[in-house]
Amino acid sequence: MKTLIFGGSGQVGTELTKLFQSDKNVHVVNRHDADFTKPEVIETLIKAVDPKYIINAAAFTSVDKAEVEKSLAFQVNAEAVNVLASCAVRHDAMLVHYSTDYVFDGLGNRPNQEMDPTDPVTVYGQSKLKGESFIQMSGCRYVILRTSWVISATGKNFIKTILKNAQTKDQLTVVSDQIGAATSAGLISRVTGDLIRLDNLSGIDSGIYHLCSSGEASWFDVAVYAISYAAKKGVSMKCDPGDVIPCRSDEYPMQAERPLNSRLNTNKLEQMLTYPMPHWSSCVDGTIDELIIKDLLK
Ligand SMILES: NC(=O)c1ccc[n+]([C@@H]2O[C@H](COP(=O)([O-])OP(=O)(O)OC[C@H]3O[C@@H](n4cnc5c(N)ncnc54)[C@H](OP(=O)(O)O)[C@@H]3O)[C@@H](O)[C@H]2O)c1
Repeated sequence: MKTLIFGGSGQVGTELTKLFQSDKNVHVVNRHDADFTKPEVIETLIKAVDPKYIINAAAFTSVDKAEVEKSLAFQVNAEAVNVLASCAVRHDAMLVHYSTDYVFDGLGNRPNQEMDPTDPVTVYGQSKLKGESFIQMSGCRYVILRTSWVISATGKNFIKTILKNAQTKDQLTVVSDQIGAATSAGLISRVTGDLIRLDNLSGIDSGIYHLCSSGEASWFDVAVYAISYAAKKGVSMKCDPGDVIPCRSDEYPMQAERPLNSRLNTNKLEQMLTYPMPHWSSCVDGTIDELIIKDLLK
């Protein structure tokens, strides 16, 4: 089945590229081939490939920058997604798109379900929600996978930052009141592949599905766990797990507000896939193992 993947250079895009590397029917493109600020380029590309599946891993993901570059965030996360959805209708293709827990208000202490009311407090969250609603209004076949706390051995993410800092500083301060589950880009890519296979076999229902690891932790917990795991694997660390200091979000102000509650309920997705999501610690282990194999933790 012809598949066109946008955002091939990102964390999720890199894992999708690996997953489908031996499939000649899968075309992966990046910003150079399809800049999301140029809708006509997206249309021309989709027309040329005529895919049955369009996977969109491209997004404006800098939460802080989005506060000051609002128009660009909406262009990439909403208007370009509207173009993808219209093309999906015209080509009778299914659109697989990734969204975020930032569409919620980030309050409460239970995992958000797909039908819970949305109320994004950041420009990033608002732009991603607008993208979701364009897809839903378009009439195309779609799967929107809302995820959170994405980690991988490529790109910029919490695990890479924390391990780099732990190798150079003897004490780290990490927020302990934001709760979620670190989710590897590899898991997101595997689930995407399984959903496409399932759709080919028996057809799946269009809809929003929550996709993240199981279990829950604060960023502080994840930092302590990651530093301990890396040290156990022989990586030299300047900061011991006991030297990680917890702090509150309001002691660590950022341009954009971070959700205190990033928990997502994944029951709907698990029922469809018929397997459970792995625990967040295994996503952290896998990411650190890959960083070690690639010699990225010296
Ligand atoms: N990262 C997270 O923690 C997180 C959490 C929840 C949801 N998500 C969602 O998951 C999806 C994948 O995230 P990710 O972590 O893989 O993102 P990422 O690593 O930041 O990658 C983003 C991708 O989008 C591309 N891109 C950015 N601006 C573009 C433009 N104007 N035109 C074309 N391509 C453009 C980037 O290309 P360049 O390499 O050229 O910049 C890159 O390939 C996104 O939809 C994101 O909103 C992510």
